[in-house]
Amino acid sequence: MQNSMRPVLVVDPDDSFVQSLSLGYVHAAFPILPANEGAMAQTFLSDSGSPLSGIFVNPRTPGVGWISIIRCAHMHRPATPIYVLQDAGATMPEMQYVDIKKLGVRDTLTKPVDYKKMIRLLSPIVLSFDKTEIVTQGQALEDQQVDSAYVPIRAEDFLSGSECLFDVFVRLSSNRFLKLLNAGEAFTPERLKQYLSKGVRYFYIRREVQDVYMSYCDHITSAILKLRSVGTDVKLAQSLNLGEEVMKNLKLNGISDANLAYAGKFVGNLKTVMDEFRQGSQPKLLSQFLSDTVLYEHGVATSMIAGVLGHAFKIQGENPVRILGLAGMFHDLGLADAPEVMKAEEESALTPEEQKIFRDHPRRAVETLAKLRTLSAAALQGIEQHHMRLGGAGFPERSGGTPVSKVAEIIGMADEYVQAMLKIKADPSIPVERLINKALSGFTRESARVFMETFFPGNKLINFH
Ligand SMILES: [Fe+2]
Ligand SMILES: [Fe+2]
Repeated sequence: MQNSMRPVLVVDPDDSFVQSLSLGYVHAAFPILPANEGAMAQTFLSDSGSPLSGIFVNPRTPGVGWISIIRCAHMHRPATPIYVLQDAGATMPEMQYVDIKKLGVRDTLTKPVDYKKMIRLLSPIVLSFDKTEIVTQGQALEDQQVDSAYVPIRAEDFLSGSECLFDVFVRLSSNRFLKLLNAGEAFTPERLKQYLSKGVRYFYIRREVQDVYMSYCDHITSAILKLRSVGTDVKLAQSLNLGEEVMKNLKLNGISDANLAYAGKFVGNLKTVMDEFRQGSQPKLLSQFLSDTVLYEHGVATSMIAGVLGHAFKIQGENPVRILGLAGMFHDLGLADAPEVMKAEEESALTPEEQKIFRDHPRRAVETLAKLRTLSAAALQGIEQHHMRLGGAGFPERSGGTPVSKVAEIIGMADEYVQAMLKIKADPSIPVERLINKALSGFTRESARVFMETFFPGNKLINFH
């Protein structure tokens, strides 16, 4: 039965190995889902529509770094068991610094590994499971996000049967949470089926425990960046959990090593500030933002570029990460509940009505963030003004003489640059030069010069991918 399949995701660069797994006996319910590259793995992981019974990751997978893949798994599949898959005799210099358990990985397997062994490890408790057994009257995902202290996990994800890394809760109709399992326990098939047939579609874990694993991933990421024994490519791949594209483009365009290292460090520090930020209760718009991958990634990418620019502009102030990092991260918070079409920030694609809503997003972001008192006035002003351009152009409306703050200018340039990268990625035939020049036309000549020197040293617009 098609819809009862729960594939095993195998992230490994060796296609013949993955093929060999599928050659012998394969249980129809647990086919192998191969990914030989990091970004592909992340795509599968973030596709919440398709269940997975287990995740196996070879650290030698090219593309996004393996820690990023594991982080992505914790983010989207907190209840699915993760294993590291190692080539016999392979040495990973960073391995000695990584505590596999703290990373939320069950175990490390060294090849040869066969399919049967993998399935045995996942110990699926319900071998044949028909999706129709789930009563469809369960709660809609929308109201799942109301309580930001808990993360909803599809009940089916627990069919893997291995013991849970954290306490598991069920939500009662009174919006209270009842603990079902302690960390280290597993569901029995009967118990799980009972819940499913009662219409329970989601179980919950506390957000803070998920954050523990994700922060450890970030911690490892910054530690790896400091290692001399680790090659630049590994560092590059690891330095960004989300805005990987940005790093790749920066490297392609010949940005200096010093600036590149700065970008990595900046993102690492930003993560620390974000962890602190995630604590406490969140307004709805903010939790919507934090679970919106497009906007979140856009935020990470923008703050990274802003960080590098801030460095180039020698921005004063004791804490550029707090100001530029958070302003860059949250500048589009006001779009979190806006229609998808607005998230590309392309006004020409919007109707006049939509434009009006769109132009309100800087104000809405500030309105929400000001109440939290976590961002400084400079950061809030940067967000408020991030679409203001030279001579009174842009929005929100103001008179032509009103100056735009340096922070706003930096966030605005970074934002334009990130959007330009996306456009070129979608359509590589677009002339880069025209796009960048257009993006820079709204800023002072001096700022545009610093921008070019930083990101396109020698004024060479080489290429984007
Ligand atoms: Fe914006
Ligand atoms: Fe933006």
